[in-house]
Amino acid sequence: MKVVSALAAVRHLLDTGKVRRGDTLLDSSSGIYAYALALACHRYGMRCHIIGSTTVDHTLRTQLAVLGAHLEQMPPSADLKLDQKRRVARVHEILRANPEYHWMRQYHDDIHYLGYRAIAERVRAAVPADGSPLTLVGGVGSGASTGALARYLREDGAGPASGAGPVRLVGVQPFGSVTFGSEHVADPEIIIAGIGSSIPFANVAHTAYDAVHWLSFDTALAGSVDLLRRHAVFAGLSTGAGYAAARWEHARVPGGTTVFIAADTGHRYVDTVFARHTEAADLDDLTPRTVSSPAELALPWARMEWNGAKAPAQAEAPLEAADGRGRAAVGGHA
Ligand SMILES: Cc1ncc(COP(=O)(O)O)c(C=O)c1O
Repeated sequence: MKVVSALAAVRHLLDTGKVRRGDTLLDSSSGIYAYALALACHRYGMRCHIIGSTTVDHTLRTQLAVLGAHLEQMPPSADLKLDQKRRVARVHEILRANPEYHWMRQYHDDIHYLGYRAIAERVRAAVPADGSPLTLVGGVGSGASTGALARYLREDGAGPASGAGPVRLVGVQPFGSVTFGSEHVADPEIIIAGIGSSIPFANVAHTAYDAVHWLSFDTALAGSVDLLRRHAVFAGLSTGAGYAAARWEHARVPGGTTVFIAADTGHRYVDTVFARHTEAADLDDLTPRTVSSPAELALPWARMEWNGAKAPAQAEAPLEAADGRGRAAVGGHA
């Protein structure tokens, strides 16, 4: 998923003269952005330095090495907060030692929205132009994929002549994430790589979301296993969570179209998820508990009408958004 985003972001940096060929691009990643950035660096002749989460696996490590990217990986940890804190601290350390490096700031810099315009156009071309509602469902990590697709779909569908119906945006979160206020609920199982955060991200456009689902690891596992069993789609845990939420939403909007984002493949989850398929609950037996405030959140699955509310206080990104150099990190993507 992130290849489109990283390619367009690096292209934009080159076109606007912010970086030149041969420069080093640096960022932190849970996995798929690292690969996407390494591919973009490969295409444009840049050096790539990645601070990888504990969730970066052997396959990705090997791919990055052959692509010529430099990976520094955090030690094993089941704690999303600790893993992320360590990565941010390390990024700052590297920037102090190498001020000429360009920090991509995938979590804060909205140049990561740009690449999704072409995907929004493909979605628009594929859905009925009869005014019926379109529901877009996706995991929220940096917020770029869901935020950008909703923004471009809404812009492109503005005006009755387009035939486009309303676009509803549904975000998917793990428990234990500050982004939509679930940090007080711990999930004892492993991290769902790529979604949720322990720190505020400027690329999350909170007011764009109509509803939010929070899913436990077990619920996401049931989604991933069902997606392979029923539809023969082998995808990762955030996709399993998105698919479970999308099925639930789709059943409630008669005549509508539901699109969900599948960010990665299932390969890195073979042992932790797919080998446990006999433990998977039947998705038809699961349903989210409706809550009216994040204070009511509880495992294993909850849903709230977000109704375009702004960020919870703890998820509000400061203007310099962890940049450490006093630059405004938000390019006005609201
Ligand atoms: C596996 C996976 N799913 C979902 C996401 C969320 O995407 P976004 O950062 O666009 O919100 C990510 C982002 O890293 C991811 O790696």
